[in-house]
Amino acid sequence: MELFQNPASPFARKVRVLLHETGQQDAVRVVTITANPVAGSSASAVNPLGKIPVLVRPEGPALYDSRVICRYLDDRAAKTLYPPSRLYDVLTLEATADGIMEAAVLMVYEGRVRPAEKQFGDWVEAQWSKIARALDAVEARWLSHLGGPLDMGQVALGCALGYLDFRHADRDWRQERPGLAAWDARFAARPAMAATRPDA
Ligand code: BEZ
Repeated sequence: MELFQNPASPFARKVRVLLHETGQQDAVRVVTITANPVAGSSASAVNPLGKIPVLVRPEGPALYDSRVICRYLDDRAAKTLYPPSRLYDVLTLEATADGIMEAAVLMVYEGRVRPAEKQFGDWVEAQWSKIARALDAVEARWLSHLGGPLDMGQVALGCALGYLDFRHADRDWRQERPGLAAWDARFAARPAMAATRPDA
């Protein structure tokens, strides 16, 4: 199989962490491509939406997006990063983390792709407000889940927080979220997280 991805993408990082955690690195060749929402990307040949990550399989259609790929690879390894007894909690936490990533990536694209005279500061701040609300909700309601066995919701959240450190360090997401900050310090030290850091 081939994984089309970019090392800066937090969505692609979810997949690479899952490959580490489930011992499937040898089953997938990682292919780095550039992705630009305006100029397009070579991912369009395998995903009509032109987005990464995409998993190309020798048999069967290409899989996207990251949630589909992660479910597929977890099933393939017969691992339990989506444990049936907590499935909807895990999916909700993963969706929350993916929403944080989406907003954080849009903020980056606004600065990178849109001409300076067309940049819309209120829109950027609205994206950050969404991220801040999601982080507050995790701090208030999810810390006991985060203390439980490894699952894909935790992996996605770790990747979302890693992306905030990578691209939005100036926003200081840890301030007033001590529980989440302490969890992240432990989680980021996992070998799978250390090996996939966007600046690694
Ligand atoms: C980034 O450079 O931040 C980025 C690159 C690809 C996908 C998402 C984000």
